[in-house]
Amino acid sequence: MEERVQKIIANAGHCSRRAAEEFIAQGKVRVNGRVIKLGDKADIAKDEILVGTTRIEGARRVYLMLNKPRGYEVSMSPLIRKSVMNLVPQDERIVPVGRLDKNTTGLLFFTNDGDFANRITHPRYEKEKTYAVVLDRKISKEDIKKIEEGVHLKDGFLKGKIKVYSPTNLEITIHEGKKWIVKRLFFKQGYYVKELSRTRIGPVKLDVKIGKWRYLHQREIDQLMR
Ligand code: URA
Repeated sequence: MEERVQKIIANAGHCSRRAAEEFIAQGKVRVNGRVIKLGDKADIAKDEILVGTTRIEGARRVYLMLNKPRGYEVSMSPLIRKSVMNLVPQDERIVPVGRLDKNTTGLLFFTNDGDFANRITHPRYEKEKTYAVVLDRKISKEDIKKIEEGVHLKDGFLKGKIKVYSPTNLEITIHEGKKWIVKRLFFKQGYYVKELSRTRIGPVKLDVKIGKWRYLHQREIDQLMR
């Protein structure tokens, strides 16, 4: 991703952004061998950036998926024993992307790339999220239709696409990431969600066993960044 060169230099810890701007204004910064001017952009993943003779290295970007088990909290607090942070590599400065309730299982991404996290969670990018749902009682055709046409919740209007596997087991795909959104959507129609698991975000399907994680493939990262 292209960013202003002074920002890249400052983020790499070479100097402050202000000092980086001065280096650029003094003609001391080169991108792929060419002296740049203030305001020029570069991509740390692709371009060679030199301040004087020092090469600027970007932090290694890390992206992974976890299959979150039930009972684990999505929290950065070191005081919580059953935190998802204890299920992923500790040496990377990664954070969970978005949230899942303590009793929800399934797909959760982690990254140290703020742009990636924003792409997944910001409503502007409309990333589809699919959940497997078990309800406390059989769902009626009318309620499926209502949810597919859209339901008014206290914080907005929400539509879901539903696939029914059995009258109490179904799959719902939504674009929203608000707190308790799936549970609230069904509760509004008079159903209690007994089990909830996220199975897909955008084009990426959960494919690791419960409690396990893996790095995302470059192709998946590229698709999610679109
Ligand atoms: N919707 C919910 O109600 N809970 C989750 O954990 C995720 C989506």
